[in-house]
Amino acid sequence: MSVELLEKIQALKKQRNAVILAHNYQPGDIQDLSDYAGDSLGLSVQAARTEADVIVFCGVRFMAETAAILSPEKEVLLPDKNAGCPMADMINAQQLDELKNKHPDALVVCYVNSTAEVKALSDYCCTSGNAVELVELLPKDRDVLFVPDRNLGDYVNEKTGRNMILWPGYCSTHVLIGAEDVHKARQQYPDALLLAHPECNPEVRSLADELLSTGQMLKFVNNSDVKEFVIATENGILHTLKKQNPDKAFYPVTEKAICPNMKKITLGKVLWALEDMQYRITVPEPTCSNARKSLDRMIEVIPK
Ligand code: 13P
Ligand code: SF4
Repeated sequence: MSVELLEKIQALKKQRNAVILAHNYQPGDIQDLSDYAGDSLGLSVQAARTEADVIVFCGVRFMAETAAILSPEKEVLLPDKNAGCPMADMINAQQLDELKNKHPDALVVCYVNSTAEVKALSDYCCTSGNAVELVELLPKDRDVLFVPDRNLGDYVNEKTGRNMILWPGYCSTHVLIGAEDVHKARQQYPDALLLAHPECNPEVRSLADELLSTGQMLKFVNNSDVKEFVIATENGILHTLKKQNPDKAFYPVTEKAICPNMKKITLGKVLWALEDMQYRITVPEPTCSNARKSLDRMIEVIPK
């Protein structure tokens, strides 16, 4: 890693009064460079509260959009304009509108992995870190439309027993994790606990010891006496798990669980982002104000 590159980033960061936020799936060097690395909920809270003038968001577009909606007076930069989330693009505003027309009495909850337009049409937004708690707070006599992730929705449905209508979206990285990967890892590491993300398919979820958002995984491991863990989520998180727990062993359930979009961010692109103030992410009105209502509700629900 070039010391010169890191020094240039630090100097520019200071000059621009910028903060660098990174998701737990980012490449290790980006997580190390960041001022805050975390899950979607933690990052949204940071973006809403930061006093910096510029937010360099090392993640994917919906995350930078969320930061721009929560902090419209800030400059939000996404270092690679093509870092998107295929799941977020699996439902658009027109499709959600049609779904709402079919279920006019239902409340709409969207996963934060969605476009600003979809958030603007939703009543509530949630992350994997607070989806269960948020749905539990909703009036019991209302059906819940959950978009776009059918796997997270199904998990919330199992946990809450609520009447939910799920959109058939999914994460193209988590679906690469198969039950056969779990069986193989169980044989190879019989003493390990298996932690899986709720974006995994139902078979994988049913085989896991714990279902956790990435932030919850970090917390769980820090508080556990267990020494070995098999991790069923995007493999970027293993970097921080290993760094924070040098006395514990971590194994990816499969080497295939890599999100190509998360890996588009590099140190060079972070430097260019700060040099050229690119790529600026903005959300036009009234989408921005409407989406903020559902996001404000999301960041109010912080689980214990
Ligand atoms: P969390 O970090 O909130 O668990 O999100 C997972 C994810 O897939 C983000 O794209
Ligand atoms: Fe989207 Fe899945 Fe990548 Fe997260 S890991 S950004 S949900 S494709």
